[in-house]
Amino acid sequence: MKALILVGGFGTRLRPLTLSVPKPLVDFANKPMILHQIEALKAIGVTEVVLAINYQPEYEKKLDIKITCSQETEPLGTAGPLALARDKLIDDSGDPFFVLNSDVISEYPLKEMIQFHKSHGMEASIMVTKVEEPSKYGVVVMEESTGRVEKFVEKPKVFVGNKINAGIYLLNPSVLEKIELRPTSIEKEVFPKIAAEKQLYAMVLPGFWMDIGQPKDYISGLRLYLDSLRKGSSPHLASGAHIIGNVLVDESAVIGDGCLIGPDVAIGPGCVIEPGVRLSRCSVMRGVRIKKHACISGSIIGWHSTVGRWARVENMTILGEDVRIVDEVYTNGGVVLPHKEIKSSILKPHIVM
Ligand code: GDD
Ligand code: MG
Repeated sequence: MKALILVGGFGTRLRPLTLSVPKPLVDFANKPMILHQIEALKAIGVTEVVLAINYQPEYEKKLDIKITCSQETEPLGTAGPLALARDKLIDDSGDPFFVLNSDVISEYPLKEMIQFHKSHGMEASIMVTKVEEPSKYGVVVMEESTGRVEKFVEKPKVFVGNKINAGIYLLNPSVLEKIELRPTSIEKEVFPKIAAEKQLYAMVLPGFWMDIGQPKDYISGLRLYLDSLRKGSSPHLASGAHIIGNVLVDESAVIGDGCLIGPDVAIGPGCVIEPGVRLSRCSVMRGVRIKKHACISGSIIGWHSTVGRWARVENMTILGEDVRIVDEVYTNGGVVLPHKEIKSSILKPHIVM
């Protein structure tokens, strides 16, 4: 079985992190976003993944899965890339293939999805989930008893329902015949058409779900993800007197005495957390140093950044790669571009160029 991951787009909403790497490679819970997906696909027997970008990942060998790239010369939207990768997706087996948005995190119930797809026997299956603010997603109206999709409305201006497209699809090869090779949207052009033909079925996604393409949602997604590790009694969660709630610490990270860490924290490889540091609801990426007695909450600290002694970093502060916060500085919602040094406090949320 094969799968395609949509990894294009510019990731502007996750700047400054996406100034250093493409959105799918931004670390989430200590590994690149798409690696969560590739692992889930591998686990249910997918043997080949097509990435719609130009990137040669190191994970092909590590996971023993074939990873090929399908490079666009112009952004083809969310459906055009499928037409472009047509020859890579279709083989003699006639099997359906998965399509994933690269910025969604969940328990990826893909096995259940295959069963669902077989059970209704139509052309296309999508996962849906309930959210409180449906207007920023694709909304799906479906017949509750069967899952048949009656209407698919991308980013509706008026309320049509609260079940939304979770960005995980299982499609028969025949769907590719309906997609032209040009910039085109699967949500606006393809799904409404397949729904009208009564060939589109939706299954409610069991477990948690989050689009982590925006900082606030990224932090909420981390909480949900760690929570699901806890429910699954994951051996990867940290424990000890200095840990509160769910915390993920890479084995190569060093944590000093007298720190208090958690809840909902991920500390990446090679990080150094000096004594007396307080961390909560934050993601600390690879190679970061947090100096003594600094306090960080509700923030993302980009790769190889340094936070000074007694510094306070909070309220959705996002540090790009290799940012230096000097000692005793306070940042309240600062969004800091890569390689900057912050010498004076940021009192109100704004972007530091
Ligand atoms: N290859 C390629 N080329 N990929 C693209 C392009 C492109 O031109 N444009 C966007 N993508 C990829 C993004 O990287 C992402 O993985 C996916 O397509 C969806 O794009 P987003 O920009 O993240 O869309 P969204 O979050 O506003 O809405 C989509 O996701 C929601 C769920 O999170 C839609 O699919 C909604 O219907 C859905 O509810
Ligand atoms: Mg998105």
